[in-house]
Amino acid sequence: MKDSRFAPLNDWLAPGAVLFLFVLLFSFTSCGTSGSEEAPATAEESSTADTVQVRSYGETPDGSATLFTLRNVNGMEVDVTNYGGIITAIRVPDNRGAMGDVVLGFADVKGYLGEHPYFGALIGRYGNRIGGGVFTLDGTTYELDRNDGDNALHGGPKGFHRQLYEAKTINPEAGVRGVSLRRVSPDGEEGYPGNLDHTVRYLLTDENELRIEYEATTDAPTVVNLTNHAYFNLGNQPTILEHELMIEAERFTPVDEGLIPTGELKNVAGTPFDFREPHAIGARIGEENEQLELGLGYDHNFVLDRKTDYALERVATLYAPSSGRFMEVLTTEPGLQFYSGNFLDGSLTGKDGKSYEKRSALCLETQHWPDSPNQPDFPSTELRPGETYRSTTVYRFSVR
Ligand code: GLA
Repeated sequence: MKDSRFAPLNDWLAPGAVLFLFVLLFSFTSCGTSGSEEAPATAEESSTADTVQVRSYGETPDGSATLFTLRNVNGMEVDVTNYGGIITAIRVPDNRGAMGDVVLGFADVKGYLGEHPYFGALIGRYGNRIGGGVFTLDGTTYELDRNDGDNALHGGPKGFHRQLYEAKTINPEAGVRGVSLRRVSPDGEEGYPGNLDHTVRYLLTDENELRIEYEATTDAPTVVNLTNHAYFNLGNQPTILEHELMIEAERFTPVDEGLIPTGELKNVAGTPFDFREPHAIGARIGEENEQLELGLGYDHNFVLDRKTDYALERVATLYAPSSGRFMEVLTTEPGLQFYSGNFLDGSLTGKDGKSYEKRSALCLETQHWPDSPNQPDFPSTELRPGETYRSTTVYRFSVR
């Protein structure tokens, strides 16, 4: 399958990118982990709308973490830390105007240092599973750190979700503000070849869009698949079973017992995986279905129906009747992992003392398909010296 992720710069200079470059040129003013000189130094100094607040978020084994609060003119806020590129909060209004946090997470960095299922995290170098924790590239076999039975999951035990990033704020300009995180993942980290220089930008627009832009280059052939692992609950209910989900996908990738794709692309028609029209998640999750049994619910990659190869397009919507919150997902990626929070079991207590029960939130992870390095018929995840990996995902919020 043709992979046009490595399009020439002109292709990438779409209107949004021009705006972004403008912001980049005029707003990036300093390096370091504590934001730009233009960024407000304390929360008190920056309590007005339309800001990037910067504050200390505590110590990690690799140094001090910083928390960035992006706030737009509507009062929508996104909290991001440079530890693991984690989105710790997204505060958006419901249909009565009441602000609420719609993602799972912890109150401070300590929570993220312990065991947790990738709450809000930047996932890399390879999002999702690589079967047997092994792949061969240009004749060399690479053994990865296995952290999911025999498989490698989400970049390994110390994947990007547990790394500290260099951060720069992107101060408000033309309706956009944000933070840019950068790090070089060294050759051999978690078993992956090549020094991977990567940057992730979190941008909040005045259209209530959280836009995440990923970019990476390498000095040796490698594989890359970056995503974000936010757990959403848009409603006022303890589970996400009431949420109505639409995914523009005629096919999905069925899995084996280890949740590794079998290689087949299965039609969703007539199955509980048909979300082409919005369906309540709870409506069919309990049906007798081999794939639902293997996933303990939904934990599958959907093959997105793309109108244009790798253009930014709307691929999914999520609606919570209890709050009226509506979220659209746009991406340049060919796949979407819909995970219905099946492994949450109440053992973790998050923000506001809430314990996170089974299916109390769901993930919509935009990505290349799982195990692509071992599946020659899947879109390629290879990145070579001289190429630039680029990927964009937008989560757009509104109410109904
Ligand atoms: C992913 C996987 C799930 C699970 C979660 C984390 O989304 O697909 O199987 O591992 O991460 O718990």
